Amino acid sequence: MSNRVSIDPLRVIAPIDPNLFGGFAEHLGRCIYGGIYEPGSPMADADGVRTDVLAALRRLRISVVRYPGGNFVSGYRWRDGVGPEEERKARMELAWHDVEPNTFGTNEFVAFCRKLGAEPYLAVNAGDGDMREARDWVEYCNGTKDTALVKLRKRHGFEAPHVVRYWGIGNEVDGPWQIGFKTPEEYARTYTEFAKVMKWTDPSIELLAAGVSLWDRHWVERVQLLMEHAPTLIDYMAIHWYVGNSRERGYRDDDFASYMAISEKLEDMLSGTRGILRAMRSALKLERDIPIAVDEWNVWYRVFNEGKLEETYDLADALVVAMHFNAFFRHAASVKMANIAQIVNVIAPIMTTPEGLVLQATFHPFELYASTAGDTALDVFWDGATFSTPEFDALRVLDVSATVDRARKQLAVYLVNRSLEETQSTTIELQRGHFADAGELHVINGPHVEAANTFETPHEVGVRTQSVSAGGRTLTLDLEPHSVTALVIGVA
Ligand code: AHR
Repeated sequence: MSNRVSIDPLRVIAPIDPNLFGGFAEHLGRCIYGGIYEPGSPMADADGVRTDVLAALRRLRISVVRYPGGNFVSGYRWRDGVGPEEERKARMELAWHDVEPNTFGTNEFVAFCRKLGAEPYLAVNAGDGDMREARDWVEYCNGTKDTALVKLRKRHGFEAPHVVRYWGIGNEVDGPWQIGFKTPEEYARTYTEFAKVMKWTDPSIELLAAGVSLWDRHWVERVQLLMEHAPTLIDYMAIHWYVGNSRERGYRDDDFASYMAISEKLEDMLSGTRGILRAMRSALKLERDIPIAVDEWNVWYRVFNEGKLEETYDLADALVVAMHFNAFFRHAASVKMANIAQIVNVIAPIMTTPEGLVLQATFHPFELYASTAGDTALDVFWDGATFSTPEFDALRVLDVSATVDRARKQLAVYLVNRSLEETQSTTIELQRGHFADAGELHVINGPHVEAANTFETPHEVGVRTQSVSAGGRTLTLDLEPHSVTALVIGVA
């Protein structure tokens, strides 16, 4: 059966926020130490930042980085990580049961973000920390008045304020694994009080509420209570999820079809969150929509590897990462930030050794979407071949999204072929205007869905680019089995 994709460049969903290409870096395993930061390494710059990692992250166009956790932040004291290195204290760390040397902290992180060209996003400790500590951190980073905390920052070598715009209050407070787990009511109250003093300290900051990570029967109540308690203090409702090709954590199934149906779960979580936020906007007569930040998302199999959380990703995982961006684009009206968790070594698209790095299979869809997406998401119609799983009937084999770059009049159409064996003949029809004479096709694929990039086999999964002739209103492509294709082409 052939497939049909219909696109009207004027059928717009919403602008695409560059913060959809965000990341997350936690003091966990080798994300910071040995990942981002490795003083003494031949690849490190004068500040100890790994330049090869920086270059790979630049390829991903990481726009915003959340830090320092994660579960880690719920026991973190930011003061431990500032000031002269010799005075910094190593601490027992209870989230991941490690020792935190604190040689990398706020100032090193902000400097790293500025080198990367990304906005820093700090999460404050709402686990065993208090609102005084949170508000002091805002003042230390952003303060401009002649106060003790501003003088402290200046003494630490940072005369100008860091102007940290994004601040999250707590992390996964809905999970019993969290230091300082909170009931929906407890967190709604905590959020409100933290948010008040943080905004009073610097009214220009934008705050993210730690909405949902557990997706248990209380999740709707959590979002509802937050909205009722702090409707004017929430700038983003943050949600988290991790997915994998497994019914149970920690091992991979070979049920490729069920894994590919993960798109339905992403839709449920995004449209569910969007729905409750809209309902609360209407109920509370709010003037603005509260956007969603998916500030931790990824594929994760819980390979703990001595507490390092290091995963090897395969082509199937890369298709799932591509489907995430399709979902974010289709929900561009409400999703305004998304942070892959994490950026280096820990559940990450980039893996380092002291000698170099490898780009995992999941690196390639992230880079492809980040480098080709236009500024506006389009509402695409598509139909064609279907597949079924024990859970779902008649899902479309293709998973699709599209964007347009309005200034360059350039269309980008993203097509994930979720068939294990079949090439999908697909006609892309432009309902208004016509295609330029030629465009580019970028295809991510590998020899089979378990193909993975490792230090021994770094190029199993990669991107091929070729030109494609067009000109009229339709264009027919043969989409390879288990592949991601991006068609990038001008429209007139
Ligand atoms: O990213 C790893 C962990 O996953 C984070 O610390 C936590 O927030 C989530 O459970």
